[in-house]
Amino acid sequence: MTAPDADQDPSLGWTVSATAQGKVNLHLAVGARRPDGYHDLETVFQALDLTETVTLTVVGTCGPGEGPGDMVAGVTVTGRDAHLVPAGGRSGDIADNLAVRAVRAVAASGTSSGAVDAAAPLPRIRIDIDKGVPVAGGMAGGSADAAAALLAARALLGSRHSDADLTALAADLGADVPFCLLGGTALGQGRGDRLVPVMSRGTFHWALATGARGLPTPEVFARLDEQRAAVATGGRPDVRTGGPTALQRALVGGDPVALAGCLSNDLQAAAVSLRPELRRTLAASREAGALGAVVSGSGPTVAMLCRDREHAVDVATAVAASGDAGSTLVAASSPHGARLC
Ligand code: C5P
Repeated sequence: MTAPDADQDPSLGWTVSATAQGKVNLHLAVGARRPDGYHDLETVFQALDLTETVTLTVVGTCGPGEGPGDMVAGVTVTGRDAHLVPAGGRSGDIADNLAVRAVRAVAASGTSSGAVDAAAPLPRIRIDIDKGVPVAGGMAGGSADAAAALLAARALLGSRHSDADLTALAADLGADVPFCLLGGTALGQGRGDRLVPVMSRGTFHWALATGARGLPTPEVFARLDEQRAAVATGGRPDVRTGGPTALQRALVGGDPVALAGCLSNDLQAAAVSLRPELRRTLAASREAGALGAVVSGSGPTVAMLCRDREHAVDVATAVAASGDAGSTLVAASSPHGARLC
């Protein structure tokens, strides 16, 4: 946080920054499609040391009659895949930016519940996002922006939202946002938003292949529904991920070889059918000597588990040379969730 520096408006120039981490899913079992369009999940998330930083700066004051929808004066985005994030103009409407939606949600729920002083005018703010997580990769980059923005907005608005209030707002913004607030390693149920921390020892090292093109999450779930309809008519075998018990044992033991044997994802076949080149990336990861590999979340990122950082760099380099993998990078597991800077 930086102190305000203007004479007339004491809050002008005030900034609050927060960070949140991207994630991989070590385990993702998908149940039935629910009436609300979501699927029941059982998933184990692991935060990575790929960081999104969201900075809110007060640039003015909302006028009479203006509300939470008028607060955001502009958005800037820097860092990895910045041009793919909606920030106004050709990049897309800022109303689609999850950080913008998170700030507005804190202000709207705060003014209606009394957690934010409704008598004081709302600040007008600029949102600066610095990205470390690939966009549309199944790694929760947008959800991390939302989580960081929720924390930063609570601080900037001096709101009395509890942590539980913020988690409820997070769940409304997206199924992965509550995990991005919590961080570390956690079991997610329901839409993936009912969370219990999972014990994990040591640091796990990953090589990541982002894929050449992003993959919209709803399309991947829809393809899984189609595949399951084919199972029902005998057109496909019904292969499903089991429970996460062995995986949790491997996490407690801090054992990457055991963990590699437990990686699984019911969305992987759907992602591969939409992006057939993923099959070659998965094969390249085996040839490169990764301990194990899995599509993360709805993909298309392929997460390859490695013995240590040096091994991860070797695997990332070899898979990049295979040609289909998009960009590759290395990351390590992180104990952190969203934090104020
Ligand atoms: O909540 P979020 O916006 O991240 O979800 C994007 C889409 O992914 C949903 O609209 C839905 O189609 C699908 N989804 C799902 N079941 C979940 C999580 C996401 O079907 N548990």
